[in-house]
Amino acid sequence: MGEEFGHKPVMLGEVLAALKPRAGGRYADGTIGAAGHSVAILTASSPDGWLYGCDRDETAVELGRKRLAQFAGRFELRQGNFADLADWVPAESCDGVLLDIGLSSRVLDDPERGFSFQTEGPLDMRFDRGQALTAADLVNSASADELARIFWEFGGERQSRRLARAIVQERERQPFKTTRQLAELVERLAPRQGIRSHAA
Ligand SMILES: C[S@@+](CC[C@H](N)C(=O)[O-])C[C@H]1O[C@@H](n2cnc3c(N)ncnc32)[C@H](O)[C@@H]1O
Repeated sequence: MGEEFGHKPVMLGEVLAALKPRAGGRYADGTIGAAGHSVAILTASSPDGWLYGCDRDETAVELGRKRLAQFAGRFELRQGNFADLADWVPAESCDGVLLDIGLSSRVLDDPERGFSFQTEGPLDMRFDRGQALTAADLVNSASADELARIFWEFGGERQSRRLARAIVQERERQPFKTTRQLAELVERLAPRQGIRSHAA
């Protein structure tokens, strides 16, 4: 079930128990990632279940096409946001939708994608590399208020204002280009104090 590619989808038993894929059923996977759940859904709905799949990341869609090749004629994949699924997946013919929201470890482990603060890479962080705005653009141009709002709303960061002010100050000296540059600033502001996880 996708494990032959060295990838183990999370909560697979629970996902299958909730979706109950059956022959003839039609399902949507809004975050195909490494296609582990998609493979499992198509396997469980053999011989003629159907899968609509999407991911914001074009590399996930390419990988998905390879991994689902064994189910040719039983799926449609598109690059896109799951928020737009209803634009192309007919609601009346969809028996269940899976959203496994987050980040895939394949992307996290790739320094070039700029999601990891443990390895040096460009400060990118785009799921969809067709988009123009990178994390570096945002960190180097957004106001302190906007940065604080982002850290607070999306990261639940209690020191959001302090962190935002420090970023604005630091970028005057030199713009942020890499993941380590930003991670080091965060670590200077909030050292580990014996906690295992990195402050960033
Ligand atoms: C945890 S992975 C999914 C793993 C997948 N279930 C599997 O079995 O391999 C999360 C995926 O969600 C994608 N993603 C994140 N936000 C998205 C969005 N708004 N629309 C579509 N895909 C998104 C990421 O690109 C990533 O590939």
